[in-house]
Amino acid sequence: MRPALYGELTPWYRILDATEDHEDECDQYIEVFEGAIAAPRTLLELGAGAGNNGIWLARRFACTLTDISEPMLALSREINPACEHVLGDMRSLRLGKAFDAVLVHDAIVYMTTEMDLRAALRTAFDHLRPGGAAIFAPDTLRECFREGTEVHERDEGSRSLRCLAWDWDPDPTDDEHVTEYAFLLRDGARMSAVHDRHVSGLFSRATWLRLIADVGLTPSTFRRDLGDAADAGYTDEVFLARRPG
Ligand SMILES: C[S@@+](CC[C@H](N)C(=O)[O-])C[C@H]1O[C@@H](n2cnc3c(N)ncnc32)[C@H](O)[C@@H]1O
Repeated sequence: MRPALYGELTPWYRILDATEDHEDECDQYIEVFEGAIAAPRTLLELGAGAGNNGIWLARRFACTLTDISEPMLALSREINPACEHVLGDMRSLRLGKAFDAVLVHDAIVYMTTEMDLRAALRTAFDHLRPGGAAIFAPDTLRECFREGTEVHERDEGSRSLRCLAWDWDPDPTDDEHVTEYAFLLRDGARMSAVHDRHVSGLFSRATWLRLIADVGLTPSTFRRDLGDAADAGYTDEVFLARRPG
């Protein structure tokens, strides 16, 4: 079932996840792509959501932004009018063209089985030109996941959002964990409460490296600077996957 955050709660998305918080991280990915690919010009993002990466990546690349949620793509179109937008599932999308770079940021966490993760990695391979490279940036890995809570609070005009995000793992023997979001949403004098459960994949570094190699890409890893999020069970390890030239 699609999380409410990418459906009926989409009008609240920007208050939860501010565009400016993505600039530093995107600058790091641009630098890595520039070091890995000869004269990169085009970039495909799978699971681009509200376009919070796209807006920074588009300063360097001609970007095609894709997502499974039309309301999320609509948010992205507002801030990225020059980018191409395509509705599609990262497991099955086939655009019939190749790019210099592919990014799958936090949206990759919605791959909850090895079969789904492999399908998304295959989509990246199929959209890379020889000599191109992909970056896969899961929020966490099996090795560093830990249960915990985060509080998000932001106000914007007449609207205020308070959110508790609680990561936990109902069954440590499978490849999933969940994040329970408890939203309190205030619009003027109106207050509503929503519980939204997100089921995410939880794979070890070895599984990631094996699946990336399985689809024909050459894996390596690099470190990103996570700032304040470094201690919250997120991984700073990011996968770089090159398509042989
Ligand atoms: C956390 S949001 C991404 C936010 C994005 N990084 C941004 O900064 O705006 C995760 C996105 O993954 C998308 N998504 C989930 N499953 C997907 C799939 N199978 N294919 C493509 N997109 C997917 C959701 O619709 C959502 O927009």
